[in-house]
Amino acid sequence: MATSKAPGTVVEPRVVTRRDQLEEALGDVAGRHGPTSRTAFVPTMGALHAGHGALLDEARRYGEPVVVSIFVNPTQFGPAEDLSRYPRTLAADLELCGRHGVDLVFAPDVDVVYPDGPPQVGVDPGPGGQILEGVSRPGHFYGVLTVVAKLFELIRPGVAVFGEKDYQQLVLVRRMVGDLCMPVEVVGAPTVRENDGLALSSRNRYLAPDERRAAVVLSVALRAGVAAGPQGPDAVLAAAADVLAGEPMAALDYLALRDVDLGQAPATGRARLLVAAKVGGTRLIDNAAVTLGEAGAQ
Ligand code: PAJ
Repeated sequence: MATSKAPGTVVEPRVVTRRDQLEEALGDVAGRHGPTSRTAFVPTMGALHAGHGALLDEARRYGEPVVVSIFVNPTQFGPAEDLSRYPRTLAADLELCGRHGVDLVFAPDVDVVYPDGPPQVGVDPGPGGQILEGVSRPGHFYGVLTVVAKLFELIRPGVAVFGEKDYQQLVLVRRMVGDLCMPVEVVGAPTVRENDGLALSSRNRYLAPDERRAAVVLSVALRAGVAAGPQGPDAVLAAAADVLAGEPMAALDYLALRDVDLGQAPATGRARLLVAAKVGGTRLIDNAAVTLGEAGAQ
């Protein structure tokens, strides 16, 4: 693989695809960082962009070596979803990992992660997996949590970093780690956005130019909702809904205000505003922190 234009500043990450190679490489890279090192892990499905890059930088603040997995996990895709056309850009992904100082990339094939076929035993995401994304994507969080649990077993990180972009996923991973006593610290990292506010996503590349222009409505709606925070929950939802209604190309799936753990929203204090909509054939999600009521006015 080609390294960057600035030789010396970028170290190519080591890449392994098999479990025996992973075991050996984990020992090697941990050894390089000394006996008190703790592995920082960032799971991804590849097609990496600057949002993933920010996660890699965040990971290194919490631990070293930094290990990244690149695996398009079939069990989290529904039958009508985009598994077969999900972008696969391994060479560019490895270059981005190199630029962010990643020590090790685990890029397995499906039969390495699922050697006995689709799993018969997996992680039940519980009630938090049935709401929001779980309504439109039944089984999605079963697939996500099952693969994240497997990757934790294979890599045994001390810390793992997930983006707030997929807020429900972050909340459910935290819940899994707590409920199943997994010895890993879960860190959430802020959403990285385009200049106009659109959250970076591997799926943005599906958007035609007019769809790309319409897609910004999700983040505009969230900002309007956040600004209405001091007026309380109803005003937040009304402000965001109003913006979304003004963009005919965005077919709303849900707009929801919840508490930070995705339970019922409080009347005042910290909350989360979440939105999902289809723009053309592409389903987009986004979310933002909101402070409700008087606290928001301070
Ligand atoms: P993927 O969609 O590749 O995302 C990998 C990580 O990058 C997730 O934690 C996601 O929240 C984060 N991310 C994506 N876009 C981001 C952005 N704009 N800003 C900040 N972080 C962003 O999420 C998955 O893969 C999979 O479900 C996975 C956890 C790997 C399990 O298969």
